[in-house]
Amino acid sequence: MQTPECTCSIAQVGAYVTQQVTIGAWLSKSRSSGKIQFLQLRDGSGFIQAVLVKSEVTEEVWQAGQQLTQESSLYVTGVVREDPRSPGGYELSVTNVHIIQIADGYPITPKEHGVDFLMDHRHLWLRSPRQRAILRIRAQIVRAIQQFFDERGFTLVDPPILTPSSCEGTTNLFQTKYFDEDAYLTQSGQLYMEAAAMALGKVYSFGPTFRAEKSKTRRHLIEFWMIEPEMAFVDHEQNLRVQEQFIEAIVQSVLANCRDELQTIERDTSKLQQIQAPFPRISYDDAIRFLQERGHDIQWGDDFGAPHETEIAASYDKPVFITCYPTEIKAFYMKPDPQRPEVVLCADLIAPEGYGEIIGGSQRIDDPQLLTERYEEHELSTEAYQWYMDLRKYGTVPHSGFGLGLERTVAWICGLEHVRETIPFPRLLYRLYP
Ligand code: 4AD
Ligand code: MG
Repeated sequence: MQTPECTCSIAQVGAYVTQQVTIGAWLSKSRSSGKIQFLQLRDGSGFIQAVLVKSEVTEEVWQAGQQLTQESSLYVTGVVREDPRSPGGYELSVTNVHIIQIADGYPITPKEHGVDFLMDHRHLWLRSPRQRAILRIRAQIVRAIQQFFDERGFTLVDPPILTPSSCEGTTNLFQTKYFDEDAYLTQSGQLYMEAAAMALGKVYSFGPTFRAEKSKTRRHLIEFWMIEPEMAFVDHEQNLRVQEQFIEAIVQSVLANCRDELQTIERDTSKLQQIQAPFPRISYDDAIRFLQERGHDIQWGDDFGAPHETEIAASYDKPVFITCYPTEIKAFYMKPDPQRPEVVLCADLIAPEGYGEIIGGSQRIDDPQLLTERYEEHELSTEAYQWYMDLRKYGTVPHSGFGLGLERTVAWICGLEHVRETIPFPRLLYRLYP
């Protein structure tokens, strides 16, 4: 038999009411009454119920329908009927079935499976309605991010993945050989984005970053995607304003464009509707006092852990900026507050509902002398960073930027328990398969 040709996707059937169409699909489930079979079909674009009536099709077609198991692949031909009771609003009256393959023993059944089992079958787990909805929302977030920057005069710039030196400290670098030299997978494209900002003014990058962090938490991935804008002639305060507008734009874009997906994953959207700029701010100093008052054993100079961030975020129904951390616990490139050099002009943006830090950003050091001092304090090789120093030597300007973690943002917007569901194939501590 000749292979049938698809005439439309499930999402498009509305344009073919009363007409005959052929759709390529997988079977999600089926039931049969002896005289009539109901096939739940999926093609990636949507769901449709196909109905086979024994008295209206050939014996061969009826038998083909009965053979179909979960995830079997087929071409189905039928007439599109409007049906307000069915989820998509349409039904297919089947005239022909062309089996591509009968799937034998699909491992993910409608019963409950453990997380390890699902993670081992991630390549198949992606077919579930919930996982597909999450990936669609992720794609919408990416679209909203690009749109936000493209509309505001930023140029997309791609920093390298293989680098000769670190950006965020040396403790969690992935090392590899670069012929005879040592190289590292990038932890952040920021330093390169600073060079790009000196060429193009406002730039952003969007790419994978790698951190060999021995953290097995629901917020940490080994490979994650980061969006890193960098802006010349922009200070700390202006940087925060860009960030809150950016986050508002992403959330509102998902609300406007992903209603079905948010419903599929049962996200409480009232919490997302409140995400509008401006966002509250709390200084590091006040955050420490706040935590101490609530009985946390934390001193000025300590970094926050997940429980601290969660407790601070719980006081707000929007993301909150924690500003001006101690210079000592932050990266070498952050600009000290001229009034108070023991703190830097930086902020972490903490998402609501316990999702933790989604953005880290700062104003950068623009003074060549101070940058040299920082290299020494952090024991960084001036040789490896010579090019970065050139940015301060030839026309240095105030500049700022930040990094948004895509997966943590997806986890928060989708209301997910763990970042493992936010990326198609998560790289986690001790998991590189599939
Ligand atoms: O705060 P971080 O380390 O900042 C930087 O890398 C800066 N160079 C960014 C910049 O200013 N251009 O990382 C930025 C964000 C975090 O706020 C978090 O959302 C995410 O990246 N992130 C992770 N996401 C998942 N898994 C991990 N292991 C992550 N580490 C950081
Ligand atoms: Mg950070």
